[in-house]
Amino acid sequence: MLILGIETSCDETGVALYDAARGLLDGCTPLAGLLAHALHSQVTLHDEYGGVVPELASRDHIRRLLPLVHEVMGRGGVRFEDLAAVAYTEGPGLAGALLVGASVAASLAFGLGVPAIGVHHLEGHLLSPLLAESPPAFPFIALLVSGGHTQLMRVTDVGQYALLGETQDDAAGEAFDKTAKLLGLPYPGGSALAQLATGGRPGRFKFPRPMIASGDLDFSFSGLKTAVAIECRKRTLDAQTRADIAHAFEEAVVDVLVAKCVTAMETTGLERLVVAGGVGANTRLRALLDRAAAKAGFDVHYPPLEFCTDNGAMIALAGALRLQSDRSAADSVGPRCAFTVRPRWDLSAIAA
Ligand code: KG4
Ligand code: ZN
Repeated sequence: MLILGIETSCDETGVALYDAARGLLDGCTPLAGLLAHALHSQVTLHDEYGGVVPELASRDHIRRLLPLVHEVMGRGGVRFEDLAAVAYTEGPGLAGALLVGASVAASLAFGLGVPAIGVHHLEGHLLSPLLAESPPAFPFIALLVSGGHTQLMRVTDVGQYALLGETQDDAAGEAFDKTAKLLGLPYPGGSALAQLATGGRPGRFKFPRPMIASGDLDFSFSGLKTAVAIECRKRTLDAQTRADIAHAFEEAVVDVLVAKCVTAMETTGLERLVVAGGVGANTRLRALLDRAAAKAGFDVHYPPLEFCTDNGAMIALAGALRLQSDRSAADSVGPRCAFTVRPRWDLSAIAA
């Protein structure tokens, strides 16, 4: 059963081809089902504006998507007639960008007489750790840390997600991006800030650890960004100062994320933590989580770096899992001429 996956929710055009017969049968690892995947990042396109320009994003998805689909089909060595379904990101995300993926997926599915499966972008991120060489077994706690979301979820099985806590304001990735901007780094600033932080001296600056002792699993990062802004205004930002600030900022965010993960593991008693979303690529976060996990006695799983940030593989996998776990989902969707996108879409709306 071959599924084509299409991701166009923001500034990355991702396409992947997934074979459920190779990846989802007993004894297989989900990664074995991934036949081909390709990604086009729009980072350079939006760079000069300091953030994503929605209209430019939509237009670039239009330019890139069909060539990427052909490339992936060619690399997978399959024909369009072999596809059993086309999965696409239905939301949340930028409306115009989502419409590009949804319209191509729905048209292709309609033309082929196969189902088009609308996938929740965050479900894709939650399931992306299954694409690791040693995937985690269910149930697990997922820390979802992307540009738009910071959430702790209990993942009992495919489609069974319970929200344990989330950010009350900015997402962790958003805080990284806004702080990077304050430090004069190009968009998206997360990895550039992390890089800058490696040259920072510990101890020169100390920023607050928001909500670290709140006793719940919620987060808040907007005050931290403001604390950095105040510090930046007080002094000349020479290269070493910028690195020191970046270091202190990264320390603060990571300390909070690690503390909340440890609390989530303690309160639920589960044994596996998975980390998904772009901030999951952060080296300091990985190192400190590994250390905390070894101390507290739980396992941590990360998706391979290329599947931490937005990609088509997680959408193809989520579509394949959805099709496998609930054939009626495919039947009920059916080939259709009409399609929807959901720029705002709460994951709890699809969770059992
Ligand atoms: O999951 P993702 O690709 O897109 C969203 O769905 O938002 O996450 C992108 C976010 C951006 O905020 C980016 O700055 C951040 O992930 N990011 C990082 C790192 N790499 C990407 N943040 C911290 N450290 C990194 N190494
Ligand atoms: Zn994402």
